[in-house]
Amino acid sequence: MKKTANLLAVLCALAFASAQAGAAVPIPQLVQKDGRHALIVDGRPYTVLGAQAHNSSNYPAALHKVWAAVKDAHANTLEIPVAWEQLEPAEGKFDFSYVDTLVAQARQHKVRLVLLWFGTWKNTGPQYAPEWVRFNNQRFPRMVGKDGKNSYCLSPLGEQTLKADTRAFTALMAHLKTIDEAHRTVIMVQVENEVGTYGTVRDFSPMGEAAFRQPVPAAVLARKKAPPSVAGAASGSWSDVYGAYADEYFHAYAVASYIEQVARAGRAVYDLPMFVNNALRDPLEPMAPWKGNFASGGPTFDVIDIYKAAAPHIDIAGPDLYSPESAKVDATLGLFQRADNALFVPEMGNAPGYARYIYQILGRGAIGVAPFGIDYAEYTNYPLGAKATDKTMVEPFGRIYAAFRPMAQLWAQWSLEGRTHGIAESDARTPQSVALKNWKVTASFRQWQFGPVVDPRPEAGTGKQDFPAGTESPNGGAALAQIGENEFIVIGQRVRLAFEGSGANAGKPSMYARVEEGHFDAAGKWVMERNWNGDQTDWGINLPASPTVLKIRMGTY
Ligand code: DGJ
Repeated sequence: MKKTANLLAVLCALAFASAQAGAAVPIPQLVQKDGRHALIVDGRPYTVLGAQAHNSSNYPAALHKVWAAVKDAHANTLEIPVAWEQLEPAEGKFDFSYVDTLVAQARQHKVRLVLLWFGTWKNTGPQYAPEWVRFNNQRFPRMVGKDGKNSYCLSPLGEQTLKADTRAFTALMAHLKTIDEAHRTVIMVQVENEVGTYGTVRDFSPMGEAAFRQPVPAAVLARKKAPPSVAGAASGSWSDVYGAYADEYFHAYAVASYIEQVARAGRAVYDLPMFVNNALRDPLEPMAPWKGNFASGGPTFDVIDIYKAAAPHIDIAGPDLYSPESAKVDATLGLFQRADNALFVPEMGNAPGYARYIYQILGRGAIGVAPFGIDYAEYTNYPLGAKATDKTMVEPFGRIYAAFRPMAQLWAQWSLEGRTHGIAESDARTPQSVALKNWKVTASFRQWQFGPVVDPRPEAGTGKQDFPAGTESPNGGAALAQIGENEFIVIGQRVRLAFEGSGANAGKPSMYARVEEGHFDAAGKWVMERNWNGDQTDWGINLPASPTVLKIRMGTY
């Protein structure tokens, strides 16, 4: 796969290929360097400052409410569905009018697109498949539970279903190639949406039973070891190898293999990066076989290796973050960020408490992130997301994106080089440190901008209950890039940062050489607005409520 190719080689090849072909814009692709990743758009690293529209906003007449919110969000990328039911309402008759309108309007708004293919599965169900698919169990079989009853979920073993979905998806990709090859407005495609199955661990139909008895394919054996609790055979049937995990792993393989065929056919006509998104299983629960507690067969963290083995044309399995607890977010990000799996958060709740995670996600080297439900359709998915459906819903995200956006391309490059780090205030609100090269930065929260550090926890017994307004719930965060030996770009809000020497600088007294507040211009040049000194640095770097960008240089003496 290209994503494992050497970055320089890929960039050179891209430049060469586009020069040869006279093509204006190289095709987007993922690259990796030393286990880190970048999405390359227009030949340059790109950070997806994304916004995902609501599920039913995929119609031309609904788009104006999407664009308005995307603008307020300062997002550079819109994620939005393309539904199989709208693309092929009657079998074999394709309607690309929505896609054409969407792509044209995205160009007018100077926003890139990530298209979400709502095909056989959307949140595991078939509701976005055309009616001629949805109500024909004979031709497009549903899964069968252990009790012998039909599940709501279409079977990944349905050959006709796979054929039909593949044909529709390939038609979409061929159309995109025709209308977008010269522009690359569409930069990635999600294949299906939150796949897997609730209520049954796998397909127990006769066809499912026959497939389950087959030996585990070599590609899966090579990548996926049995959990430590299973004394499984080195090869053999799914049960032989994976014991109590066999049903879930088999189903993951079946779903991933289906997606692979859809993606492979689509990429054969137009080779955009492709990914799947995941309705998570609890990352903190002790590992145990499926017991109805998540969508079996989806790309949960425990089966990413099976997806990698079965679906090489899917570049990324991305986590959809809808559990707001900081410990779960942290654990999930760690489980999905791997050398063979770029971190991309295709969805995250749009409640205000999620905004601070943007710093953590982009700081730790993600290629992008997107809060879900960023449009003014007057629909709220509370309690997963925000209660508000107006500008106040978009604002916590828009402020951060607005500050981030001028340096988004630089950030993607720094992140690929391993220079970036991210912090989000935890639910415990305790200080956190990040280790940089020869410097350590400690972040603390709920501090006044003037005065010594205060431990905000009641159990700390400081007696201080007088905290800055607006800090009632955690919303602080910072992302840092070390751009030189002693030089840092910091973006953050509601956080105090303290720098101290470590490594070669350990024990050396240090002070700020410069703390410039400013921004990057369109050419990537730093523009200083003012220099922080005196009260503004005597008590550490106290980033205010508004996302602020600083260029900090440290010195030792
Ligand atoms: C996750 C799904 O992927 C989205 O399409 C949406 O249904 C949200 N859940 C809930 O609003």
